[in-house]
Amino acid sequence: METVAELLQPVEDDLETLLSDLRSLIGAGHPILQAAAEHLFTAGGKRIRPGIVLLLARSLAQDGELSPRHRRLAEITEMIHTASLVHDDVVDEAATRRGVATVHSRFNHRVAVLAGDFLFAQASWHLANLDDLVVVKLLSRVIMDLADGEVRQGLFRYDTGQTFETYLEKSYCKTASLIANSARAAGVLSGLPEERLEALTTFGRQLGLAFQVVDDILDFTGSDQQLGKPAASDLASGYLTAPALYALEERPALGGLIEREFSEEHDLEQALELVRGSDAIARSRALAEGFASDARRAIAWLRPCASTSALLALPDVVLSRLS
Ligand code: IPE
Ligand code: IPE
Ligand code: MG
Ligand code: MG
Repeated sequence: METVAELLQPVEDDLETLLSDLRSLIGAGHPILQAAAEHLFTAGGKRIRPGIVLLLARSLAQDGELSPRHRRLAEITEMIHTASLVHDDVVDEAATRRGVATVHSRFNHRVAVLAGDFLFAQASWHLANLDDLVVVKLLSRVIMDLADGEVRQGLFRYDTGQTFETYLEKSYCKTASLIANSARAAGVLSGLPEERLEALTTFGRQLGLAFQVVDDILDFTGSDQQLGKPAASDLASGYLTAPALYALEERPALGGLIEREFSEEHDLEQALELVRGSDAIARSRALAEGFASDARRAIAWLRPCASTSALLALPDVVLSRLS
């Protein structure tokens, strides 16, 4: 099975241009913030979100060419994503990201808060300059959703009474909203009719949910090195994701450990074992598979071309991170 990087091959050059454009867009600011942003963009994430925008743009254009506005939209998407990660890492007190030290641990908290704000502000400015009110509304909604999701996640820490619905709403806000709304915005810039825009939104939302469930499984099954960020950290922070919520149904003892916030020795190890030893991982995988196949179905109408093939393969590649 291919990796995300292999899949993004049709837009590899575009993504390279995007990264250097991002550095110069941000470079206009203050040296310390530039150093922080540079640090992150150089570490290199998977660039899956701008990749989706670029692939969609190429697939939606009859001549397969990219417009400058689609390029800019892809950049904005990665800026918003990166800003959310910088702030998320402060909230989570995470030490690594993308295989390198997080901005707050490399510099300090003040720099991380400002660097995140700076990226959000840059993204908003470039968004406004696209001069398309519909697109502005779609992407500014994402920024609202991100903040909402982060707050919601905090409110439900260690709460064993939360419903699965709560988890999915939080996941929509933190992850799926950006992919859904940027996919839709790519369609808006290509002049698609409403019904197609709806299909792109569904594609992005379901792919985003699959992506988050996979990330949540990997937190239980992956290593720090594999993930480039601290593994086994969600449960330790009290974040109850799909595997933990399923395991709670099967293993009542888990509830007690979570409710006392792992305050006694070996509580956390025991809780991790309970989750890993139950059917929760397999059930979470099945959940992600369902979202992934919804995503694939939603874009079956795209014009046959290399970019479309990559988009159709993307849901499976997201799942293949698990194997
Ligand atoms: C991390 O996203 C946040 C989640 C939605 C799980 P990515 O896994 O896409 O992070 P990068 O951009 O590749 O570092
Ligand atoms: C990802 O959620 C979404 C955002 C950071 C906005 P996570 O909290 O699961 O991301 P990681 O695991 O820290 O990358
Ligand atoms: Mg996090
Ligand atoms: Mg995570």
